[in-house]
Amino acid sequence: MRSLDELDVAGRRVLVRVDFNVPLAEGDDGAPTIADDTRIVAALPTIEELRSRGARLVLVSHLGRPDGHVDPRLSMAPVAARLRELIDGRPTPASVTLAPAVVGDEVRALAEQLHDGEILLLENVRFEPGETHNDPALARALADLADLYVNDAFGAAHRAHASTDGVAHLLPSEAGRLLEREVSTLTGILEHPKPPLVAIVGGAKVADKIGVIDRFLRRADVVMIGGAMCFPFLCAQGHKVGDSLCDDEDTEHARKLLARASDTHAPQPERARLLVPSDLVIGDRLADDAEHRVLDGVEVPRGWMGLDIGPHTVERYSSEIARAGTVFWNGPMGAFEFEPFAAGTRAVAQAVAKAPGLTVVGGGDSAAALAHFGLEHEVDHLSTGGGATLELVEGRELPGVQALDGAGVSL
Ligand code: 3PG
Ligand code: MG
Repeated sequence: MRSLDELDVAGRRVLVRVDFNVPLAEGDDGAPTIADDTRIVAALPTIEELRSRGARLVLVSHLGRPDGHVDPRLSMAPVAARLRELIDGRPTPASVTLAPAVVGDEVRALAEQLHDGEILLLENVRFEPGETHNDPALARALADLADLYVNDAFGAAHRAHASTDGVAHLLPSEAGRLLEREVSTLTGILEHPKPPLVAIVGGAKVADKIGVIDRFLRRADVVMIGGAMCFPFLCAQGHKVGDSLCDDEDTEHARKLLARASDTHAPQPERARLLVPSDLVIGDRLADDAEHRVLDGVEVPRGWMGLDIGPHTVERYSSEIARAGTVFWNGPMGAFEFEPFAAGTRAVAQAVAKAPGLTVVGGGDSAAALAHFGLEHEVDHLSTGGGATLELVEGRELPGVQALDGAGVSL
């Protein structure tokens, strides 16, 4: 994949698609504030490099899902304020202006007034109904704001929208540094991992992760299952799951994955060992003061739910992680937001943090888990993507990457 190096940006307007789709919270005055600015901070290397090379930046992002309507609660205003603070702390501060809309005459005039190094942040691109429909008219209006296009929005690269796909075909386009690093790291661990490659997959539903488990069964040495999605696997093995989360569709998926993982006579046998929990922490409900205990084994009694992996499973999983050349982790091991069910996720997070191998953590819930335990800086790569990370790891092409001029070209 080609990168920013290919673009002569000095004195030119560059439209940069960023993923500033950050979680919001309610401030003291009731106005939205940013709960986690990771994605804004992650875009700074590209922003600062372009500014230092004399570019005039027009930044565009979505925030939430306003569905083509202007929703003041999803304005980019708090993002602009945070970006302004971050840019103020930089060697060459510059103005950050929030546009009153996404496109239109007034926005265009603001873009044309930019000086070298200055930033114009467009309003939430999903205020425009054409964004998610990849409407050519919106793509054209966005392209009219700039001379060049850079996509650094890795988290939105699985969407073929006007700001991630359409516009890329209308301007010279390249990948930003974040997108470049995400793609090279996440494809690198599957294509040329330092062995052994160990994958830990957790979260709620097998259906959401089936493509990921599938790909790692073929490429990894060990795949370890945790989180609520272990119950369909345990159920498929004939264990009692009590009141744990478990539906028929997921159990069918799990049954097939288990069969494939153990079929050594298949034309192309799976490489990986597939590990499931051997003990659990069970509780009577999801609460900090829930009744809970460690279950020796995996037969969950009626009236109880499995809500975390148990200490023996933690030991097995941690020792695989410690021996790994490469670790990929996606999805929590239990209901870690509640203290009685946090130990499994905490221990796996700690094992990943101190693993000598290359450690890569998929975004969303796993990022939140790492942050919950204060370990977000202890891994080699913490992905900013949720759905985009999973799709890339599954081996799917990302439209936002495919649309770039340099896609498929390695220099
Ligand atoms: C994300 O948060 O996963 C990305 O920003 C994409 O958002 P979306 O799922 O609303 O398209
Ligand atoms: Mg390491």
